[in-house]
This record gives sequence, C-alpha cells and structure tokens, in this order.
Amino acid sequence: MQLRKAAVIRAAYEHSVRFETEKMLRANMARRSQSSGRWLQEHFSDPFVQRAQAQGWRSRAVFKLEEIDLREKMVKSGAICLDLGAAPGAWSQYLHRRLGKTGRVVASDILPLTPLPGVEFVQGDFREREVFERILTVVPERQVDWVLSDMAPSMSGIDAVDQPRSMYLAELALDMAARVLKQGGGALIKVFQGAGFEALLGEARSRFAKVKLVKPAASRARSPEVYLLAKDFRLV
Ligand SMILES: C[S@@+](CC[C@H](N)C(=O)[O-])C[C@H]1O[C@@H](n2cnc3c(N)ncnc32)[C@H](O)[C@@H]1O
Repeated sequence: MQLRKAAVIRAAYEHSVRFETEKMLRANMARRSQSSGRWLQEHFSDPFVQRAQAQGWRSRAVFKLEEIDLREKMVKSGAICLDLGAAPGAWSQYLHRRLGKTGRVVASDILPLTPLPGVEFVQGDFREREVFERILTVVPERQVDWVLSDMAPSMSGIDAVDQPRSMYLAELALDMAARVLKQGGGALIKVFQGAGFEALLGEARSRFAKVKLVKPAASRARSPEVYLLAKDFRLV
C-alpha cells in the first residue's frame, strides 16, 4: 500500500515537473517570437532601411559610413581601403563609388559576399591567423590608406560573452591597421563600450596622431556601439 502511494506521488511530481518545463519553454518561445516580431517591425519601419532599399544599398550600415566620411573627410579618390566585416557589402559598395577607378577596395568577411564589381574579396574568420595572413598577401604592403572594420560577433545577449568577443575583433582590426597602413593612413573601427574599451583607445593613441569616437545617426541610440576614428598613422 505504502509502495503504491509512493508511486502515485512520484508520478504526480514528474507530471508537474514536465508541465512546468513545458510551460517555461512555451513562455520562452513566446518571448522570443514576440521580440523577433518586434525587431522585424522596427527594421522595416526604420527610415534608414527604407532609404537604403530605395537607393540600392545592401544595408542601412552605409549611412553610418557616409555620415562619418563626409563629416570627417576620410576617403579620397584613388585611395586603397580594406573593409573588414564587409558583408552584405554596403560599405564596400560605397567605398568603390567614392574611390573611383583608380582606387582599390579589398573586403573580407566570415560570410560569403555576393560579388561586387571592383571589390576584391577574401572570405574567412578574421580571428584565424591563416585568414589574417591571406589578407596580408592581397593588400599592397604599407600602401593602404584606410582600414575599416564594421565587424561584430553574433550576439548572445550575455554581456560577459559578447563584450570580450567584440573587443577581440576590434583589437585584431587595429593590429591589421598597424601592419598595412601607410604613414598618415587611418582606421575606422566599430567598438562596443565596456570592458577593454579604454585599453583599446590607449593602444590607438599610441599609433595615431588623432583619435576620437564617433556615433553616427544611423547607429541605434540603445546600442553600445561607437566607431573609433584614428587618423595620421605614425610608422615607427
Ligand atoms: C554589421 S555587419 C557589417 C555590415 C557591413 N559594413 C555592410 O556595410 O554591409 C558585421 C559583419 O561582421 C562579420 N563578422 C563577424 N565576425 C567575424 C569574424 N570573426 N571574421 C570575419 N567577419 C566577421 C559578420 O559576418 C557581419 O557580416
């Protein structure tokens, strides 16, 4: 009798655990689909998305670069630019138009890039030494005018994971800039404010005469992203 009672209690307990787990999973899925629905709604009503589509740019990110470029007088026709984290390709599209026939754009991304006329592409994970080295074989040594990085890792939503990942990409981009830029060259690197940010700024200040942070209008206010703009690279 005692045994039967225990079995009934265990079955009831297991049923309630299963029920609670299913309830949690359902709530989680509902939350996720609610937030992705909100994201889609926000995305398509975004004026930068609408303008990008109307003007034939591959992403709204183009307006971040355009604003910084025009305000800061960055790229000149005939320049050589390296665009890191280039996919889907709006920055490279913009650079190609700005640089004219005499300029050169080398783009790289872990994702494939639908070919863009006048843009050379190196595919691979920039954190891998082999990819870093492959880019070095494509860009002309010490002749690069601008290194741009819009790289961002896929976000987990956990700051302790996302911040070091994004900081690592920014550090590697700065390292690449120090390897390929010509005297007087510049870098524009996406950075997330948080742990490691001040150290990166210090590193940039030690190699460039002018360093500042810029936040273009197309960069969402709630995002911790800013762009580190470094000018006048000093060859040591
Ligand atoms: C915000 S998007 C860049 C948008 C781009 N500037 C444009 O105008 O279309 C960030 C890019 O960084 C790339 N990325 C992230 N981690 C990377 C890595 N480890 N190596 C190379 N690219 C990476 C992503 O694949 C993504 O395409």
